[in-house]
Amino acid sequence: MIKKSVTPQRPIPLLRKGGHETAESARTEGAMGTACIRTFGCQMNVHDSDRMRRMILDAGYAEVHSYEDADVVILNTCYVRENAVDRVRGHLGELVRLKREGRVKKVALTGCIGAAEESQELREQYGIDLVLGTHNTYELAEFVGLPTMRETFTPELPGTKGASSAFITIMTGCNYQCSYCIVPSVRGRMVCRPLENVVAEVERLVASGTSYVTLLGQTVDAWRDPSGDGKKFCDLLEQVAEVAPRVWFTTSHPSNMEDRTLRAIGEKPSIVKRLHLPVQSGSDRMLKIMHRGYKAERYRRKIEVFRENVPGGTLSTDIIVGHPGETAQDHEETLKLVGECGFDSAYVFKFSPRRGTEAADMGDEVPPEVAQRRFMQVLRAVERGAFERNQRKIGNLEDIYIRHGRSEGGKAVGETWSGHAVHVATDSPPGNYTRARIESAGPHVLYAGEPLA
Ligand code: SAH
Ligand code: SF4
Ligand code: F3S
Repeated sequence: MIKKSVTPQRPIPLLRKGGHETAESARTEGAMGTACIRTFGCQMNVHDSDRMRRMILDAGYAEVHSYEDADVVILNTCYVRENAVDRVRGHLGELVRLKREGRVKKVALTGCIGAAEESQELREQYGIDLVLGTHNTYELAEFVGLPTMRETFTPELPGTKGASSAFITIMTGCNYQCSYCIVPSVRGRMVCRPLENVVAEVERLVASGTSYVTLLGQTVDAWRDPSGDGKKFCDLLEQVAEVAPRVWFTTSHPSNMEDRTLRAIGEKPSIVKRLHLPVQSGSDRMLKIMHRGYKAERYRRKIEVFRENVPGGTLSTDIIVGHPGETAQDHEETLKLVGECGFDSAYVFKFSPRRGTEAADMGDEVPPEVAQRRFMQVLRAVERGAFERNQRKIGNLEDIYIRHGRSEGGKAVGETWSGHAVHVATDSPPGNYTRARIESAGPHVLYAGEPLA
């Protein structure tokens, strides 16, 4: 594992839909065959997987959740760090074996690895049947026997309709060129979705029972209405907040974050009081090398505005350690910033060189053992701060939104109004609220006592 994080990012499991079919029942009911979609990486891929799911269902396939049961397997992949590719290689190795045994018939690789040159090497090495990038996902339709569909956004997604929570992509791609980052080359430049279109989708989802929407994009706060009417992200957020009972957004970029957005989080009751604002480094020298476009002071100011306007709000970030050129002094500045900002959680990553990015050819590399030491120091600093903050929440009475219902013998997983993860012993289904007092806390999660209502 190259990367570790305070709240580890795992491949996002597919949600099991109510009444999903097994391979057996699908075959007896005369479906075309069975298909399994495995999603890795960020919510962009989750969104694309929903679109692909619609295609396979339209083509008459039944969705299954294990490779052994599938005729067709689609791996929707992430390329952001090398360990994301290692993980996919593991899955491809298993699929080669299942194909040899005649269980799986075809394998398609889609998503961000598909958009990178390396996908051709993987195709040859593992005998992949179809490789698609991020801009031609619609070609999957032909692969599963449908006429080609050329569309960028799907107004209605079968995977989200009627679900208690839904993700809504408001922009794709990214116009930044951070030194280390592969996303702009695999996802392309920013494309924003029109405001009316987003609001109409939210209205439709809310009418079908959705109570929590998350607005998605690589830099959501860079959103501008494509009509050129000057509407910015805060306008969109405020409109969505009028329609949706609960709304959150991710990811934001410190250069685009407006104070009025931070104020809106505090003012609008339906906006979750949680901000994810990746800082990457606390050193101005590193922020410049990374082309982040802001100084640590701007970041601190934004956090101040957030704290003033959203008392008790939850704050998280992303940090990279060991980027080429990072000195002991730079690292100290990152630790200092972590100490000052009071993050509730952080995704901490060791720099992973990506072919074709500026940082991959920069030289001046940080030795792996130094990167590892810095990684652990940042991780511990975040955890220490988060643990202290969480201890202070013990005794608070919280309205808890249930995200995942209770598993057998376990607790339901929910979040406080400020979006902090909390475990609670309730049978309430996802989408409901329950009231309980926080009884104990670790560095990552709060634990609530018996629900009061
Ligand atoms: N668009 C978001 C995040 C994109 S990728 C933003 O700008 O903040 C998610 C996180 O992965 C980044 O915030 C960064 O911390 C990390 N990351 C991206 N490329 C990386 C690389 N080459 N090595 C290590 N971490 C990386
Ligand atoms: Fe990557 Fe930077 Fe764009 Fe985020 S803002 S996706 S880190 S290039
Ligand atoms: Fe990974 Fe692509 Fe998202 S590289 S982080 S799945 S945009």
